[in-house]
Formats: sequence, structure tokens, C-alpha cells
Amino acid sequence: MQNIKDYVEQNKQRFLDELFELLRFPSVSADPKYNGDVAKTAEFVAEKLRAAGAENVEVCQTAGHPIVYGEKMIGEDKPTVLVYGHYDVQPPDPLELWDTPPFEPTVRDGKIYARGACDDKGQFYMHVKAFELMQQTDGLPCNIKFMIEGEEEVGSDNLGLFVAENKERLKADVVLISDTSMISLENPSLETGLRGLSYVEVEVVGPNRDLHSGVYGGAVANPATILAKMIASLHDENNHIAIPGFYDDVLELSEEERAALNKAPFEIEEYKQDLGVNELWGEEGFTTLERTGIRPTLEVNGIWGGYIGEGAKTVLPSKANAKISMRLVPNQDSKKITELFKSHFQAIAPDTVKVTVTPHHGGEPVVTPTDSAAYQAAAKAIEESFGKKPIPTRGGGSIPIVALFEKELGIKTVLMGFGLDSDNLHSPNEKFDIANYLKGIETIPLFHKYFSELS
Ligand code: BES
Ligand code: MN
Ligand code: MN
Repeated sequence: MQNIKDYVEQNKQRFLDELFELLRFPSVSADPKYNGDVAKTAEFVAEKLRAAGAENVEVCQTAGHPIVYGEKMIGEDKPTVLVYGHYDVQPPDPLELWDTPPFEPTVRDGKIYARGACDDKGQFYMHVKAFELMQQTDGLPCNIKFMIEGEEEVGSDNLGLFVAENKERLKADVVLISDTSMISLENPSLETGLRGLSYVEVEVVGPNRDLHSGVYGGAVANPATILAKMIASLHDENNHIAIPGFYDDVLELSEEERAALNKAPFEIEEYKQDLGVNELWGEEGFTTLERTGIRPTLEVNGIWGGYIGEGAKTVLPSKANAKISMRLVPNQDSKKITELFKSHFQAIAPDTVKVTVTPHHGGEPVVTPTDSAAYQAAAKAIEESFGKKPIPTRGGGSIPIVALFEKELGIKTVLMGFGLDSDNLHSPNEKFDIANYLKGIETIPLFHKYFSELS
């Protein structure tokens, strides 16, 4: 442990400088205007893996953005860890809400501000540096494979294909991912599950053109009003989701499991204050930790229609649209939920409008085991570097590829994230605490050590 700490201490400025270099690439996967930058980022990641000592490093082209692969095999008798991460980031918009530019990493108050600082560049790069550290200090205790992709934020469509076509190359005993949150440095935790996702876009069409709202208003249904009513009806008075059959497959937790989940430290007043809300909201009968961890949800991600420019325009819009996502929990199936949504939304549409529902990407929920050698190794590593046992929690976000690793490769995952829920992922002013970054680099080699010992 001491030589790990010494190595981090002696190299921390370089570890930061290299991460800053990575953060300067605007690797936005959703917007084709950044395609060149995304490709350059993949090359940079490959180069850093090579420099850290990885072999057979390859930038694998796909129908979309490339996947970076690299490995270091030290012996067939040793266990193999597959490290997964993503070098792509969410769009930085709205730009005007950033205090400093999203692709010019800036340190304020011990925190690195940049798009991707936490999700996931800062987090996967800890693994590259931990890999370097192990080789420069005690040597690797196990085989390591890296797979860093460029399409996580847009649904990992091509990664699914890559995994199916590269089963032999990706063979491993466990997948290790740092792309989730922990409670805090004082209360380290390990997420033991992720929610799935069903994402749809809806369109409500009324008259065949925008109309003068004085001439026609009152006589023709307004698609924006209809859409608002339809959306409002998707939750009942107890904030349950009112789509028939929606909860049919939901696995309910036992009272003991719920009690354990609610033991995690959570300060409701702090939470409200951080978000600037007077009251919280959610499904009746469940706590906030349950609402974000073990219950499915439905959210409007965007809604538009009619005139939204400067000043006033008296118009009755011809159509209105919304993007709606549903987070799913174990045993729910994203395709089935998408179908349920589709038929329900069509069924509640009045005859005054025409409604179309278009599915986007989805993903399946997962729970990760806590009785495995890999989980025990992660828990031991955290206990040693943080001085405290990690609390198991359930994460609200989604990483669709985790369920696919299980299905295609038969490999379970350990989610050893070092970010915080308050790191502004996908929001303006995304950040990652330098302390978390360095702590991660310190903890990862211990995971490999204990995993090798325990398996
Ligand atoms: N790293 C996040 C997921 C995450 C964040 C899990 C925090 C747990 C805690 C990932 O990059 C992400 O944002 N995933 C998307 C899904 C994807 C299909 C666009 C999400 O959760 O919205
Ligand atoms: Mn991520
Ligand atoms: Mn993300």
C-alpha cells in the first residue's frame, strides 16, 4: 500500500495533466459534427494504453465510433479482469450555463470542471494510470484487458455487435467498471445494480398547418394541450405510473432488503438544498433512495411545439412532441415496456389528433452479485484505501452493456465508481474531485491484488 501511495504522490501532477489533455477532446458521440474529434480521442486513448504497457492495442472501427482495445496477459493460470469504460461524452449544451468552457478543464476548489470529467473520462483514465502504477511498482497480479468504447452515451449499439463477434478476445473472469457514483469519500459505497431504459419519442398532430389562434382557436384541438394532458395522465394521484401492465414484472424487494437499502446515509435536507427544491416528489409508499434505486420511473426529457421564439406569436400549432424515458428495474424488459407504452399512448389519444410513438435505444436492468470473489475484492480494496467498508447501494442510472456482458459473455460486473451523484453528469459544470480521482488510482491496484488472491 505504501508504494502505491508513494507512486501516486510522485506522479499526481502528470496524472492530472494527462487527464486534462484527454478532457480537451470534444468527443461528443451524439453529434456528427464531432466525428473527427471522437476518432482523435480514440487514438489518444490507444496511445496512452500503449505507453502504460498494454499490448495488442487496437483502435477497432465499427459502423459508428471506434472501440479501443488493449491487453496485458501475464499467465494463463492467472485470473483475467476486463476493464470497460467510455471515452465519449454527452453534448455540453446549454453552453451559456457553464462557468468555464466545457472542453477547457479548469480546477476550482480541488475539483476538475469539464464535460466528461467524471462521466467517464476521469473514471476510466484512473484504470489506465492504475495499470501503469502496477507495472512500475509490484507488477501485475492478473491479466488485464481494456475495452474503452465511444458510443455509451448513444446506446452502445455497435458495441453489442463487437462483443458478440469477439467472445474469445474478451474472455475474462469479471468486468470492472468505474462509471457510477459513490455516496462520498467519507461514506464509500459500491453500486450493486443499474436500471434499464426504454426511450421513446412521441408526436401529436392536429390540423394540417399552424393556425391563427384567434381565427381557429376554440374550434380545433390544440396538439400542445392534448400532449400535455396525455403526459399528465401517465402518473396517477399517488405518482404511480398509469400504464396498464407497467409494474407486472417488477421484482419487489423483501422488507429486509428494503431496510438494508435505507440504512445508507442520506440527508434529505441537504439533498433538497443542493437541488434548490422545497419539497421532494415521487411514488407513494417509497423512500427517495428506493424511488431512485429499485423503482421504475417515467420522465419527460424534452417537450416542444408551437412558438418558442422571442415575444408573442398567436398561433395554434399543428403539432407537439416530447421525448420520454422510462427507467426499469430487475425483471422488466425494455422491449416489452416500450410496446406497453406505445399501445397505451395510442389508446388514450383523442380522435381530434393523430399520435405516433417512435422507440429509441433501450437497455436492460441488472443486479450485480455481492457474494462473488470480485465484489469481495472490491469491498476489501475500498476498506483498505478509505479505511471504511463500502455500503452496497442501487444506482439509478443505466449502462446497458452490463446486461449484455452477462448475456453474451456470461461475465458478471463489479461497479466500482468513484464519482458523486452531485458531479453534474450530463449537466453544465460537470466536475470530478481531484481527491476522488487520486483515490480511485490508489484503490484499483488493490482490487486487482485481492481479486487475484480470492479467485
Ligand atoms: N455513467 C452513466 C450511468 C450512471 C451514472 C450510472 C451515475 C450510475 C450512476 C452513463 O454514462 C449514462 O449516462 N447512461 C445513460 C444511458 C445511455 C443509454 C444513454 C443514462 O443512464 O441515461
Ligand atoms: Mn458513463
Ligand atoms: Mn453518461
